[in-house]
Amino acid sequence: MSMGTSEAVLQVLSGAVPRRLSGDMYLSNSDLAFPFKFHIKPLKRKALKHIQSFKSSSAIKCQCQIGSYWNKGGGRFYGKAVVDRLKLVSCNCQHSESVNGITAGEKNGAWYVDSAKKLNLNGAMDTQNILEFEDLQKTKKEKESLTSNGATDTGTTKFHKAGVDPIEDEAWDLLLDSVVYYCGSPVGTIAANDPTSSNVLNYDQVFIRDFIPSGIAFLLKGEYDVVRNFILHTLQLQSWEKTMDCYSPGQGLMPASFKVHTVPLDDNESMTEEVLDPDFGEAAIGRVAPVDSGLWWIILLRAYGKCSGDLSVQERIDVQTGIKMILRQCLADGFDMFPTLLVTDGPCMIDRRMGIHGHPLEIEALYYSALLCAREMLAPDDGSNDLIRALNNRLVALSFHIREYYWLDLRKLNEIYRYKTEEYSYDAVNKFNIYPDQIPSWLVEWMPNKGGYLIGNLQPAHMDFRFFSLGNLWSVVSGLATKDQSHAILDLVEAKWADLVADMPLKICYPALEGQEWQIITGSDPKNTPWSYHNAGSWPTLLWQFTVACIKMNRPEMAAKAVAVAGKRLSRDKWPEYYDTKKGKFIGKQSRLFQTWSIAGYLVAKLLIAKPTAANILITEEDSELMNAFSCMITTNPRRKRGRRNLKQPYLV
Ligand code: GLC
Repeated sequence: MSMGTSEAVLQVLSGAVPRRLSGDMYLSNSDLAFPFKFHIKPLKRKALKHIQSFKSSSAIKCQCQIGSYWNKGGGRFYGKAVVDRLKLVSCNCQHSESVNGITAGEKNGAWYVDSAKKLNLNGAMDTQNILEFEDLQKTKKEKESLTSNGATDTGTTKFHKAGVDPIEDEAWDLLLDSVVYYCGSPVGTIAANDPTSSNVLNYDQVFIRDFIPSGIAFLLKGEYDVVRNFILHTLQLQSWEKTMDCYSPGQGLMPASFKVHTVPLDDNESMTEEVLDPDFGEAAIGRVAPVDSGLWWIILLRAYGKCSGDLSVQERIDVQTGIKMILRQCLADGFDMFPTLLVTDGPCMIDRRMGIHGHPLEIEALYYSALLCAREMLAPDDGSNDLIRALNNRLVALSFHIREYYWLDLRKLNEIYRYKTEEYSYDAVNKFNIYPDQIPSWLVEWMPNKGGYLIGNLQPAHMDFRFFSLGNLWSVVSGLATKDQSHAILDLVEAKWADLVADMPLKICYPALEGQEWQIITGSDPKNTPWSYHNAGSWPTLLWQFTVACIKMNRPEMAAKAVAVAGKRLSRDKWPEYYDTKKGKFIGKQSRLFQTWSIAGYLVAKLLIAKPTAANILITEEDSELMNAFSCMITTNPRRKRGRRNLKQPYLV
């Protein structure tokens, strides 16, 4: 059947077919220019063949590295869909030196696959066999040096093989095998490396959120290059011109994932190039926009600086601009009256319809964390004063809002149970007009005497009472929850161990949506059936966030107990993405095996338990400025002091 005209028009407009890039995109903004150039030179097909055979004989995802586009004006990369009509200036490998401004020799050489040498860019190619052998040797040596006993000089810290724990050894091997290369440099890790799965979907991509535990694991081992490359390359992808049905994402948006494609050059069949192709959700199942990506990117950037001591990355002008773009997007005024970030369904780890649209806790906790991290990293200049002021105000309002209105324990539940409704006034107690009948019967039974948690979401006349693990844990890590609340959250996990940890840590949320609720809220999603996947499945990757939270609250023994539970099964079960059933007994129905963030999450948890102080690269604390502003807000809280008179907003930090 031929395509209808309107459909064809839409495809053209939506970027489904190659389209022209607007010439001045970003380019007027001088501090967005990427301050380095590529030295570019084509490679022969012979070289490509060599690399392909290398690829098939090695588990490391070393993609062929034959070039990148350089946009004349702005220096950003552009996706294949839009790049075709750009003038190709030249073509060659972009080495990590050029990204970093630091020579490979100065840093972790072991990571660095020197494609120029391998491919003999400057001279004639050696025979394919010799090169293939050298590649394999080199790869093997790299892996050995990364996992060998004793000291190897691969980074600022020594990379010791655990030795004592064969599961950890296996995890390191798998993590190294998941590394994705772009032009010879490691730039991320593939989401899953499952040889048993016939349907890859987008699990062969580098997901921003999935890379965070990989990145932290590498940082903790002193392997900094891959993290730096990831940070700088994803920055290149920020707000790429992608559209869906005539509409583009806002400036500042980071992609959910990206893929390295090797494509033939249009004008020369015998040459290929590598391109980074991001997905902002325009190809993702359900077309969900990844709100969490930019927030995680900021959190990782701070962790990189704190761990490596290399602050030059966060100080770069393009990185500062990237931070500001994310902040501007997150701090923009909308129709909303709440300080929380308003998002659509599935904007984070839970990336399909699960009824978390509005102000889901996971996003709000990451938002708070990213604001604090950005505040630490932003270089003060005349242009950023307004932004920093807006950021400070939002931090205070956000923490007040979440601590006050999302908090739930037995006392608060009883208060809600007795709420009066339809209060029209400035000093209503039941501000969001919550009808007590909404309190689900499971909760009355479930709420422990000791402990509490932050609810999943809050909207007019609606409280989502489900317990969401990541949101609660990251509220502890970031200090969005108060100290007492943070302890209470861990108390609750302890009290509800059999539900939340059970046979595999950690439930993504509790409880599952069932029956009609499942039908209405998930749209009868067969992947999200009760106690599976996002609908209260158990996700081993959450172990690392749990460990950081436990360490922050000085309760590492809880984390160690959970890690021990996971350690019994993860390797035996081939590192699944998630587990099903109330107790997490079964490997998930559609779960991938060799899921990278399950592997990395386990490693990070182990590393942090061995060296708890290292968790500081992820932890943030409220400073005295914020604390003062917060107490000022509490005293003007209309719930405590009724009446509009008291609602002054003097807390401009
Ligand atoms: C699933 C998860 C998402 C993850 C992706 C890749 O879609 O829901 O959080 O990023 O897989 O692993």
